[in-house]
Amino acid sequence: MSSPHWLVTGGLGFIGSAFVRLTLRDRPDVRVTVLDALTYAGNPANLAAVADDPRYRFVKGNICDRTAVDAAIGEGVDAIVNFAAETHVARSILEPEAFLHTDILGTHVLLEAVRRHAVGRYLQVSTDEVYGHVHSGSSRESDPLAPRSPYAASKAGGDLQVLAYWTTYGAPVLVTRGSNTYGPYQHPEKLIPLFVTHLLEGRTVPVYGDGLQVRDWLHVDDHARGIRHVLEHGVPGEVYNIGGGNSRTNREITQALLDQTGRSWETHVRHVTDRPGHDRRYSLDSAKVRALGWEPQVDFRAGLIDTVAWYRANEAWWRAIKGGEFDAYYARQYAGR
Ligand code: DAU
Repeated sequence: MSSPHWLVTGGLGFIGSAFVRLTLRDRPDVRVTVLDALTYAGNPANLAAVADDPRYRFVKGNICDRTAVDAAIGEGVDAIVNFAAETHVARSILEPEAFLHTDILGTHVLLEAVRRHAVGRYLQVSTDEVYGHVHSGSSRESDPLAPRSPYAASKAGGDLQVLAYWTTYGAPVLVTRGSNTYGPYQHPEKLIPLFVTHLLEGRTVPVYGDGLQVRDWLHVDDHARGIRHVLEHGVPGEVYNIGGGNSRTNREITQALLDQTGRSWETHVRHVTDRPGHDRRYSLDSAKVRALGWEPQVDFRAGLIDTVAWYRANEAWWRAIKGGEFDAYYARQYAGR
């Protein structure tokens, strides 16, 4: 029998690249093809360490492009894991259209490819944001979707397409909904890498509003392992929440990063106008994926210390991003706040 072949879309992004590195490391039997459009968020440096692995193949292309998807599938794949997405809430507020294209239409193109090529499994990587914010308790998979940002609404649209393909065509689909993810190789537009790298540079960090919003933090390796676990053991047609179980306010995260970089709140924090429609709190009930046999392995305190150390040691990686397009984006996003 030939070895399993997985197509990982968006594999040069943050969580996708962690999934590929982990899979090639722990699963010598699996071959991986990455399809990535190389948008601002797809970074070849994220997979430089595996670029020469004979079990790894890269195809440049967009999931909205049927020809590119067919080329990536080639002779056939056993599974597709879709990480390709526009993911940044703040960018979706400035320019929503790209989110509809990639997160909804791109998902549709992949689902059609699943039918055309009789792909054995399709996993959609989604987010806790589709449930909207929860003031108390935790979101379960059966809860209604109530997305509140253009990003979250686009991801919810993708999820609903995926589940409709199960109901209508019996396509072998799975959905995972992860909580806020942190770790190495995360684009510095996001809270933790933005704050760490700014603090290392001696710049002030912009806390939105009162900073008392709550997020549930999950290490990227735990998230990648959770996705792989669901891919291999999940029941088709089902949704699985993957939460870290580490609820923290943004103020708590900021304080931890100030402590680890030797900066202080008084000198290095700037309070800026809140994000429009900012979700106050996310919390996931992950009992279902835990019952399937997954649980997080990385302790949050240790994971955050390691993450800060990684950005400290990999300055060339983030300096290459924090220039050009990023500068223009940053000025547009934060000017006048
Ligand atoms: O919850 C899962 C989601 O987590 C993913 O689906 C998204 O793709 C991912 O971007 C992330 O969304 P958030 O909006 O929660 O992530 P972000 O890192 O942008 O912000 C985390 C929190 O920090 C949020 O409450 C906003 C706040 N924040 C963020 C930035 C970038 C600030 O206070 N200042 C900032 O400059």
